[in-house]
Amino acid sequence: MRICLTGSSGWLGRFLAPMLRAAGHEVTGLDIAPGAHTQVIGSVADAALVERLFAEHRFEGVIHAGGLHKPDIARYPASAFVEVNVAGTLNLLDAAVRHGASRFVFTSTTSLMITRAIRAEQGDAAVWLDETTGPLAPRNIYGVTKRAAEELCRLWHDLHGLPVVCLRTARFFPEDDDTLAVPSGENLKANEFLNRRLTVEDCAAAHIAALDAAPRVGWGLYVVSAPPPFTPADAERLKTDAAGLIAERFPEAPALYAARGWVLPERIGRVYDPSAIARDLGFRCETDFAAVLRALKEGRPMPFTHEPGYVPPKELGR
Ligand SMILES: NC(=O)c1ccc[n+]([C@@H]2O[C@H](COP(=O)([O-])OP(=O)(O)OC[C@H]3O[C@@H](n4cnc5c(N)ncnc54)[C@H](O)[C@@H]3O)[C@@H](O)[C@H]2O)c1
Repeated sequence: MRICLTGSSGWLGRFLAPMLRAAGHEVTGLDIAPGAHTQVIGSVADAALVERLFAEHRFEGVIHAGGLHKPDIARYPASAFVEVNVAGTLNLLDAAVRHGASRFVFTSTTSLMITRAIRAEQGDAAVWLDETTGPLAPRNIYGVTKRAAEELCRLWHDLHGLPVVCLRTARFFPEDDDTLAVPSGENLKANEFLNRRLTVEDCAAAHIAALDAAPRVGWGLYVVSAPPPFTPADAERLKTDAAGLIAERFPEAPALYAARGWVLPERIGRVYDPSAIARDLGFRCETDFAAVLRALKEGRPMPFTHEPGYVPPKELGR
């Protein structure tokens, strides 16, 4: 299939583009920053450029992963988020409809489900987050513009019949957490595979599953994260004794962690539930917390990338 991939120079794009090509697709990468998988340097907010590309390449599918994301809040004004994440998405949806594309996949974020209250984690039980979570009240311009873009996707499906799948993906960034969380580094990332992280490879694979399924699904919106080893029945215990619960589920975990000088989380305040994408699309992340423990046990490198100094290409030289 001829695919337009936005964000092709980014962290996800550099994994997704080769995976798409290996699956037999012809990929045209569009990004404002250069990269090995980017053929066109330009912005999704440039409607004339988007129109020209669709006319030239006659794309059959779109994967819209490009845009401004959470770390960009510190770098760009709110108006840039609206221009890129909202107007840019509309440009692509419009062009996809006009040129008869058969499917559209949009990279959204679990972050838009996190209200101030959920972030403060004040309740007595962990919050269970899935596609039914609401009412939604995103806490920053990133979440608001991603939510608006999701709604444009839904509306363009509704009005024009364009098959669209939105993926609310959990964290897969390689750099350190910008909130200076403790523990940090690989220990934090390993812990997050319990409730709110996936590998970038699994994220890319989810996009391919969504691309394949879109015409069958019509309209779909899914949380994507490593499958948590918990159920909603664990919600209270997670807030008081997460480490104890983890030790019950994974008896080897405390010793494997201690040997590395790592700590298990004492409390877990939220869990992303990816069961709907497993049910509807048959997609499940390959790497989960059990895989992290296996790597620790066998003395192998972690099955995820930790690159504390990662700088997105669009920020190099800025
Ligand atoms: N990294 C995460 O943990 C995470 C979590 C949830 C969702 N997401 C979403 O996943 C997608 C990919 O994120 P990433 O981590 O690869 O980020 P990234 O910043 O590495 O990649 C995004 C790419 O979009 C490009 N871009 C920015 N503005 C653009 C524009 N106007 N036109 C075209 N391209 C533009 C950037 O240059 C960059 O290469 C984003 O939509 C992000 O919101 C990321």
